[in-house]
Amino acid sequence: MGIEFSEAKKQFHLKNDYFSYIMEITEEGYLLQVYYGERLESFEQRLVYPRIDRSSFSPNPYELSNSGFSLDTVLQECPGYDTGDYREGMVDITYPDGTKATSLKYKGYQITKGKKKLTGLPATYTDTEEEAESLEIVLADEKRGLEVILLYTLFKNHSVMTKSARYVNCGTATISLNKALSMCLDLPDSDYELIQMPGAWAREKQLRRDSLVQGQHVLNSKRGASGVTQQPFLALASPETTERSGEVRAFHFVYSGNFTMKVEVDTYEQTRVLVGINEFNFCWQLESGADFQTPEVVMVYSNEGLNGMSQHFHHLYRKHLARGRYRDEERPVLINNWETTYFDFDEEKLLKLVTDAGKIGIELFVLDDGWFGQRHSDTTSLGDWIENKEKLPDGLLGLSEKVQKQQLKFGLWLEPEMISEESELFRAHPDWHLHVEGYPTSLGRNQLILDFSRKEVREAIMKQLTAILDKVPIDYIKWDMNRNMTEVGSQGRLPKQQQETAHRYILGLYEMLEELTTRYPDILFENCSGGGGRFDPGMCYYMPQSWASDNTDAIERLKIQYSTSMIFPPVMTCAQLSDSPNHQIGRSTDMDTRALVAMSANFGLMMNLEKKTEEELKKIAMYIQWYQANRQLIQFGSFYRLENPYTGNYGSWMFVDEERKHAVVMVFQILSQASKPLKKIRLLGLDPSTFYEVEGMVLSGAELMNFGLYLGQRLTGDFTALKLEIRAVEKRE
Ligand code: GLA
Repeated sequence: MGIEFSEAKKQFHLKNDYFSYIMEITEEGYLLQVYYGERLESFEQRLVYPRIDRSSFSPNPYELSNSGFSLDTVLQECPGYDTGDYREGMVDITYPDGTKATSLKYKGYQITKGKKKLTGLPATYTDTEEEAESLEIVLADEKRGLEVILLYTLFKNHSVMTKSARYVNCGTATISLNKALSMCLDLPDSDYELIQMPGAWAREKQLRRDSLVQGQHVLNSKRGASGVTQQPFLALASPETTERSGEVRAFHFVYSGNFTMKVEVDTYEQTRVLVGINEFNFCWQLESGADFQTPEVVMVYSNEGLNGMSQHFHHLYRKHLARGRYRDEERPVLINNWETTYFDFDEEKLLKLVTDAGKIGIELFVLDDGWFGQRHSDTTSLGDWIENKEKLPDGLLGLSEKVQKQQLKFGLWLEPEMISEESELFRAHPDWHLHVEGYPTSLGRNQLILDFSRKEVREAIMKQLTAILDKVPIDYIKWDMNRNMTEVGSQGRLPKQQQETAHRYILGLYEMLEELTTRYPDILFENCSGGGGRFDPGMCYYMPQSWASDNTDAIERLKIQYSTSMIFPPVMTCAQLSDSPNHQIGRSTDMDTRALVAMSANFGLMMNLEKKTEEELKKIAMYIQWYQANRQLIQFGSFYRLENPYTGNYGSWMFVDEERKHAVVMVFQILSQASKPLKKIRLLGLDPSTFYEVEGMVLSGAELMNFGLYLGQRLTGDFTALKLEIRAVEKRE
């Protein structure tokens, strides 16, 4: 494994056990992409020009006139602007003379051990220098005084590399970065299917797969958050790729604000992938001598299908993205009061829920929205983080002590980035929200967004939060964010810097999260944005778990969790057993089905225990016990998807422990059918030569994975589920 530079071939070769990534520098200094795929020992073919034809419509750089070399047709590593490549490039910069042409050429490189931090940004990391190697390639447009430093990290034990770019103004005057993307990848063909996850509130991450056609496919967010409508993820899969086999190249952007991901198939059937901060509401004034670091992109290559891709994402995110105490610690089973009480509660009601929860084995009580200011509905009090004494006469401290007396941990909901017009904070600071002076500001859920790009605003909120956290023993925080940005302007910022606000906001948020998580290392943070509206790898760096969706309907969740598992491991994905009929969509489902879906991830409850029968409470207690006994496997084992609920009547998945001695399979039937085919399910991730006891039989891993396991007719009825336990045994003759 390693990163090599061949002086003779002018070739960079990044390779580990899984893949190779190869680039070449032409004689004239252009950095070209050569190969990204299955590991190669070497690449010997020379790049040949004319590459396509001598069409006069693909211009040649001046020094290469009539050579057949055109930036329009070659595979580039860092395409510039308006210098002959008519595909979209990585940069759009206005120079002091008002023009934009940019062409970048190779200047130098450096290979180092390990992986450096990206200042002010979340990113994957290593624990030791041996786990990765990094490469910096410096490209320059000397005439413009611009340097672009491309950063690559190759992980040793994962099929993963990361890419980002740093833009440096080496000129004497300020330049405007209208667009400064993180990466480009050019592939020599276009026979791929694009996998993406568009969505909506309560319908996050809906998996889609479509063939590419010539032109641009754009995935983005202009919401000021990664957003519910699109995950900053895409994968290009060969058409024959399934969950079990085939090639896939995946890209995931470690950023929580506006993003753009573009796939462009050109006229020669080559494919370009671009990823970075969206140019919408973005223009960065880069002063002479200053630099701009872009967020990183995680790239995973798999030739073992989509499950293979997910294995690499899961391991990477568990060990090299999540941080802190809870990275490796089992997560508590929680109960949240939101759907039981909404805003209508007092201490007595809460303590009743806590007592009932304690009896069935719940470990953490989370007090959701409505505990502060005059918050009796969503029209008021965001920004006033002081407990409401009518609801909580002994304050948060009193409540937390009573909760802890019942042997439960105490958790709290916060929405620190927001302000209600009806609040003390707004009355004191009517200009602290994002807005355009003298122009109406749109409301979302009746609220405005605090301008986290401003230090004094962040500091004031931080002061309120630390006042609570220093006084009240809090074990967990649910950090919510319930609207998206509009009219993005920042009071006091110079007109020419207004377009920096959206990105500065995200940097401000990251700074605050870094400070909080450092100061309170024992608090378990859960990321939420009306559900999974900001469930992205940027937030996962600060908060090791995220609320996947406000939709807790088991069948809808099957799909949401199936897609979420493409990238995020079960431990990062929070799911809760809720009441039936479901509060979001009104569907009634059996408790076993609801429980099994919720127990397929980071498990909790959001239900009214008071309304449950003794029988039901016993059942719930049993689920909790089972989960606690098996959570090492569920939270930290390997997760495999087996059947896709988007394309069939079943959804199923399984968990396998590290030694491949214990596995749990969960199968969900969506609708009942008459005369249905006999159900058989092929497993994954077992050891082929180990024997396993399952359903009273002893079967080899090979049989279970290649033939599968007959399930017979046991699944009858709509929305039904079953769980199978599989344990390694000595083979009995
Ligand atoms: C958002 C969250 C919910 C709940 C409410 C409270 O919608 O996603 O889980 O916390 O806010 O207002």
